[in-house]
Amino acid sequence: IRTRVAIIGAGPAGLFLSHLLHRAGIESVVVDARSRDAVENTIRAGILEHGTVDALVESGASTRVLTEGLRHDGIELRVDGEGHRIDFADLVGRSVFLYPQHEVLRDLIATRLAEGQDLRFEVTALRIEEPDSATPRVVVHDTTGVEQVIEADFVVGADGSHSVARAALSGARSGYFREYPFAWFGILCEAPPSAPELIYSTSPGGFALISQRSASVQRMYFQCDPAVDPASLSEERIWAELRSRVPGADLIEGPIFQRDVLRFRSFVAHDLRRGRVALVGDAAHTVPPTGAKGMNLAIADVLILERALRALLLENDPRLIDDYAETVLRRIWKAQHFSWWMTSMLHVAPDATEFDRLRRLGELRSVVESRAGRTYLAEAYTGWPLTD
Ligand code: DHB
Repeated sequence: IRTRVAIIGAGPAGLFLSHLLHRAGIESVVVDARSRDAVENTIRAGILEHGTVDALVESGASTRVLTEGLRHDGIELRVDGEGHRIDFADLVGRSVFLYPQHEVLRDLIATRLAEGQDLRFEVTALRIEEPDSATPRVVVHDTTGVEQVIEADFVVGADGSHSVARAALSGARSGYFREYPFAWFGILCEAPPSAPELIYSTSPGGFALISQRSASVQRMYFQCDPAVDPASLSEERIWAELRSRVPGADLIEGPIFQRDVLRFRSFVAHDLRRGRVALVGDAAHTVPPTGAKGMNLAIADVLILERALRALLLENDPRLIDDYAETVLRRIWKAQHFSWWMTSMLHVAPDATEFDRLRRLGELRSVVESRAGRTYLAEAYTGWPLTD
């Protein structure tokens, strides 16, 4: 197989990149080890930054985000039962959109297939060869185990946190890493929204996030031990945990039809580009979920990389690709900080002392009681400008 850009991974980053490249007249092949059904139906993130929505709409990747997505002009930060609204619209004149990641993926897959994209599901990338040459290759195999080689002018690793592509750069595990001593117990339930906006709540028992998916399905999370087995808690116990972490709020309960435990990690790969191979999205970095930066960061990487690939492949100009890592790392580390900050400010660490708890409350007050504090949160949450 011969193509201009070989993209490993049909998540938001890989598919959006193939979409933008197609518009620039650059053909690509996208492979993903998962089935189309698995890609389209796995429940992941839910919040899109303003700039992410603009990028999807302006590029023609999704129009449904405007009709099906719900605009949120703020969030509630709840501290020991006391609610504080962070009014994004007033503070920074921007908003976010609640539009689940799997809907973004359905839109992208439909668009890509309608435009004739070579998109292969259940094709696993094994390794990248000759990353420093003008024709790097991806060795793949399909479900029958038959190996094939995709030869390209450039290879992009958009293959998530267990990236195979990363091994061709500084090594699969090579990066800056931090693990947190807690996780999120996540549920989907059939119920109307408990509140008009998302509630980020901290209480002596730990953190909870009351999020949404639609008028009839809600997504909620509470801080838990990473070793918890999701099947081990009864529905009554789950609701009791959620109620105790959002004191004073009336949560509307309903049947729980999905549950999972999300690990908390921060990671940035040491190298994001080598020769004619680059990493985007979770292959390049992982953030803990608090603050909803993961998918937005992936889209931001892709916008920068696509410009660099256009310059390289259409004009033979390597300057932007040479700057790719430095350019995206500026945003990545801001998002790493924001995700770490929201996480550490809102969660109760298992080994926290009384000093830690009181300092954290002081930190929360410095944010909610100050327009400057709320503005920083609003600016980061709704997203920094995507391109200059
Ligand atoms: C969701 C997840 C987040 O991490 C977040 O900060 C907000 C919303 C969600 O899945 O709905």
